[in-house]
Amino acid sequence: TSIFPVITCLITRVSTGSLATAFTFILVVSTTIQQFFEWLANFEEALTGVERFDHYLRRPLEAGASLPSGAQFAKHVRRAAPHRAGVPLNGDGAEVRIENLWLRYGPSLPWVLQDLNLVIKPGERLAIVGRTGSGKSSLIQALYLMYPPEKGSISINGVKPDLSAAEAKRVASENIDLEEFRKSIGLIPQDPTLFRGTLRENLVATNEPSQDEIIWSMLRTINLETWAKEVGKGLGLDTEIEERGGNLSAGERQLVCMARCFLSHAPLIVTDEATSSIDPASEELLIKALEDHTRGRTVIIVAHRLSTVKTCDRVLWLDQGRLRMLGTPEEVLP
Ligand SMILES: Nc1ncnc2c1ncn2[C@@H]1O[C@H](COP(=O)(O)OP(=O)(O)O)[C@@H](O)[C@H]1O
Ligand SMILES: [Mg+2]
Repeated sequence: TSIFPVITCLITRVSTGSLATAFTFILVVSTTIQQFFEWLANFEEALTGVERFDHYLRRPLEAGASLPSGAQFAKHVRRAAPHRAGVPLNGDGAEVRIENLWLRYGPSLPWVLQDLNLVIKPGERLAIVGRTGSGKSSLIQALYLMYPPEKGSISINGVKPDLSAAEAKRVASENIDLEEFRKSIGLIPQDPTLFRGTLRENLVATNEPSQDEIIWSMLRTINLETWAKEVGKGLGLDTEIEERGGNLSAGERQLVCMARCFLSHAPLIVTDEATSSIDPASEELLIKALEDHTRGRTVIIVAHRLSTVKTCDRVLWLDQGRLRMLGTPEEVLP
């Protein structure tokens, strides 16, 4: 009620022009203030991001991992990679030796792999079978050292990865760098994630066209040439792959991942066979390529189809993380 006399007083004393100016001024100021608070909210959000990124950078490295020697971080957190040799090669295939392997996903969680002992001969095809939850995928993860085994060891061609703690000074040992160890395994997971970039980059981790001839001849040998030409509507290796391979089907992602493995010449190919989600056309290509072009290499397949199991040399039957049976398909299959 007291504001009206003030306004009347203002109107009688102040000219209409200055009143308009005053109102415009108030309007501008309030918009600016509003914008400031919006910006403040955005800034706070960005700070949270920075905080999380910082947290990520300060995480300790996984056991045995190392950074490129050029990376600069606080010395007590990171250490540079020593130059180490890779897995020694002896022919196309690799011998895999699993000894007393015990694995669990956390100290308070149940064992998912219990006392596994297994030697896979070079060039052998091994099928892993078992119910859902029996530990098939866990065994693959263990091979790739996604989770360091709590007990026991895994070696390829006689060498083990160095899993000394990241902060510890690496002792001179005959073990090889974890990264080098992983390079000897070509992993084709059930749902491989590709990254954003060209098809070429997803295959050979470089966008230099210098290797195109090698890539194309590899794609030709595994019957993927026609597919690669069609998928990008003529762009070929320059086809853009979206984030996580979003523009490809699950089957196509596996095909790309398989071609990548073959190009890497890994002596050990490990694959989790696709289940029903895969399209029939890709499935046919996958099976054929895997059969034809892994000759001589050691292959481990988590098999879901009976036809695959039958083509393997030996079958490992897992039951609740334990080896239930190991033998030829005739012996293991009822
Ligand atoms: N990342 C994980 N964290 C905790 N437990 C897991 C994880 N992955 C799998 N498991 C458990 O390990 C057991 C074996 O799973 P998995 O190896 O995926 O079996 P399979 O591939 O034979 O179906 C299951 O009981 C599952 O719940
Ligand atoms: Mg699985």
